[in-house]
Amino acid sequence: KPPKQITNEPVKNFSSKDTMDWDLLRASVSKFNNASLDVPLVINGKRVFYNEGNRTSFQQVNPAKHSQVLANVTQASEQDVAAAIQASKDAKSKWYKMPFYDRAAVFLKAADLISTKYRYDMLAATMLGQGKNVYQAEIDCIGELADFFRFSVKYASELYNQQPCESSPGVWNKAEYRPLEGFVYAVTPFNFTAIAGNLVGAPALMGNTVVWKPSQTAALSNYLLLTVLEEAGLPHGVVNFIPGDPVKITNKVLADKEFSALHFTGSTAVFKKLYGQIQQGVVNDVYRDYPRIVGETGGKNFHLIHPSANIPHAVLSTLRGSFEYQGQKCSATSRAYIPQSKSAEFLADLAGTLGSVKPVNTSASKINGGDLHGFMGPVIHEQSFDKLAAAIEEAKKDPELEIVCGGNYNKANGFFVEPTVIKTTNPLHKYMSTEFFGPILTVYEYPDAEFKQICETLDKTTSYGLTGAVFARDREAINVADEALKYSAGNFYINDKCTGAVVGQQWFGGARMSGTDDKAGSGNILNRFVSVRNVKENF
Ligand code: ALA
Repeated sequence: KPPKQITNEPVKNFSSKDTMDWDLLRASVSKFNNASLDVPLVINGKRVFYNEGNRTSFQQVNPAKHSQVLANVTQASEQDVAAAIQASKDAKSKWYKMPFYDRAAVFLKAADLISTKYRYDMLAATMLGQGKNVYQAEIDCIGELADFFRFSVKYASELYNQQPCESSPGVWNKAEYRPLEGFVYAVTPFNFTAIAGNLVGAPALMGNTVVWKPSQTAALSNYLLLTVLEEAGLPHGVVNFIPGDPVKITNKVLADKEFSALHFTGSTAVFKKLYGQIQQGVVNDVYRDYPRIVGETGGKNFHLIHPSANIPHAVLSTLRGSFEYQGQKCSATSRAYIPQSKSAEFLADLAGTLGSVKPVNTSASKINGGDLHGFMGPVIHEQSFDKLAAAIEEAKKDPELEIVCGGNYNKANGFFVEPTVIKTTNPLHKYMSTEFFGPILTVYEYPDAEFKQICETLDKTTSYGLTGAVFARDREAINVADEALKYSAGNFYINDKCTGAVVGQQWFGGARMSGTDDKAGSGNILNRFVSVRNVKENF
């Protein structure tokens, strides 16, 4: 039976009266600050370190202070990848034959460990390694991660307990939810520890075994997560952790006959490539199955402001949607359409507030999510920093673009980019369609009377369809936007920012080039990791 009480993990809001134990958080931050840890591969439960054999390693640095090495991360060799695949195959039968109750217990227990015993370590590893402030870490690696595990158990219980096939006199029919026959390959991103947990956890809960390639810039928190799952009872071999060179690992995995599914979050460009590679493998008879492909990728997410909107609310929502976590959420607001009659007020308010935001080392400063000076940290790595800096420089020279605020950047100590708002005179400018994955928002001022036309323009400007929001009090305007933007966003918000989907409440994912829209945080996603067998028995 489904557990009765599954609710969202309460997220601490860090007011002074809150229950957060700041001393414990500081202790965890200092622990990771003062040690450069060795992160191993984990294959069939066995730790493999870079100084064994001819392996290499890479360094995960603190993006807010890049001289600080947080972890020396072992890179998987070709043999390691083969061993991880073999371990996944070997662990399969015992794992999926385990009663669902036992598999579920692992994830329920892990969720509890995350929100209690390991709360501060999880926060510190995510804050330091992925450049989050404490609030952004809390909503990710505590709230959303625990929610993913618990809600998946609820949805899986409902799936296993339903019996949709009708029977007839003398005939008993049943649907049996088998795991996929081979193994699942999880390719996980840097920006959410929770997403990594879900990409690995959802298939594993359904009885699959997983080869996990974490992001190189999230190896520390991701390894910690694996150790929590192990402490919660995850058997050896069910999840095999192999950081390393993405292309080499992927090529080896996608060449295996028993590869059954890709569970991916990352860039559109990489997903397209893997999609094509898998299809080619099917054509060339590489696989036993048609592998399932489940992916969530990029977006050029919009805020559309109607003249009837509550402007201060729309401004604050845009500030948060665009610049929380430095604009590095796949859902982040990166283009806004503002009516000409409200534009001066909107931009002055936005620029005024952003004027006091200076990106800082949020894990070293006051560790206080309520302090604007700790509102923004660094972008994830030098490659991202350089790309953003180049985009800002290009904007300074482009006659169709004007920097409204921000526009500075500095990588002397950490990868800091100011929150930058750019205005364009061309609604089809490439800055309205290019995903920068950082703190850059491009805005266009439209004539008030052309709300419907701007909806149509907005829809056609990009190939993405991830998130978007309309801000309006006028119900008719909301209806116009709702209809015109049916496929512009898989997560469509009315009078709220387009980030911050809550597991079980706002199912997350987009279509078009933003992904396969299988909806993280819902029961839908679990269906992608089962293969239904129908059994008919005559009495
Ligand atoms: N699920 C995350 C959000 O909605 C990405 O912001």
